[in-house]
Amino acid sequence: MVETIQWTDGAVVMIDQTRLPLEEVFVTCRTYEEVAAAIRDMIIRGAPAIGVAAAMGVALGALQAPEADFDRHMAVVCDTLAGTRPTAVNLFWAIDRMKRLCAALRGRPIGEIRARLVEEALLVRVEDIEICRAIGRNGAPLVPDGKTALTHCNAGALATAGYGTALGVFRAAVESGKRIDVFADETRPFLQGARLTAWELQQDGIPCTLITDNMAGHFLHSGRIGCVVVGADRIAANGDVANKIGTYSVAVLARENNVPFYVAAPISTLDLTIASGEAIPIEQRAAAEVTHIQGRQIAPTGICVQNPAFDVTPARYVSAIITERGVARAPYEQSLRELMDRAC
Ligand code: MRU
Repeated sequence: MVETIQWTDGAVVMIDQTRLPLEEVFVTCRTYEEVAAAIRDMIIRGAPAIGVAAAMGVALGALQAPEADFDRHMAVVCDTLAGTRPTAVNLFWAIDRMKRLCAALRGRPIGEIRARLVEEALLVRVEDIEICRAIGRNGAPLVPDGKTALTHCNAGALATAGYGTALGVFRAAVESGKRIDVFADETRPFLQGARLTAWELQQDGIPCTLITDNMAGHFLHSGRIGCVVVGADRIAANGDVANKIGTYSVAVLARENNVPFYVAAPISTLDLTIASGEAIPIEQRAAAEVTHIQGRQIAPTGICVQNPAFDVTPARYVSAIITERGVARAPYEQSLRELMDRAC
């Protein structure tokens, strides 16, 4: 399986997701500024992978920070990384985790602080892979055998440190002996489905069919799709789910056609400080992502464009939320709180 992000010789190495599937190129970030740019430019993307990158970015920042001005420098590092993308809460979760450790180590020798922050970032990465495998184990029983599963965007190994959340559920279903195939929405405008999900599943030998986003309703109506599984960027206390733009339409179409709609996400994607999806900040991205495809202009020059990168699916369309600690069902205020409070 692809190595999405690694710590090698004091640098962060990530596969460049803007160039997949045509080129497998690795980018090396030696400074926290380079990690921040990689997150902003979507060289690395997907909520859990962004979290891992941010943790490693903080660790790089600690290696760069002068001893005399360590605390002030680390505040700048954390603010810079936190300013990269607003929606995926895993980014802020990872930065907070690193900040807490930094605060707990205050007064210790600088060499020790740096080493412990690097260790913690590596732990965030390893834990993320284990968490995805647990999500897969918990979700696999929900995937109907012998049917097609639909997914939107890329919630796979590329969106995590490895294995994936939604794609982790499919991988675990296949590993448990289920015969499934996957329909991948292409996911305009950034094409995470066409470029990344299709590539990942093909690499794994999991049968995958690529469809354009506007075909999802047709296939959900056909009776062929047994379930939808998607990832999430932030889940509010009431179970509203922010995920890649277009997820909401798929969820409504799934409900209309009595197809279960599942969300697979780690506990670090829960934001119980937010009561409902209304308060989730939605990233607005550049118009060029809509007017151009792979650098080629497809719309009239000067046309007005909207490009929200995420939408919010109201909890009433979500059949269940699959986490590493178990499967939550409505009422989500209660079930998500229980999972959050449950010991790992
Ligand atoms: O803009 P992206 O590519 O970072 O958006 C990714 C998604 O919306 C994923 O579905 C989500 O982060 C879950 S990834 C396990």
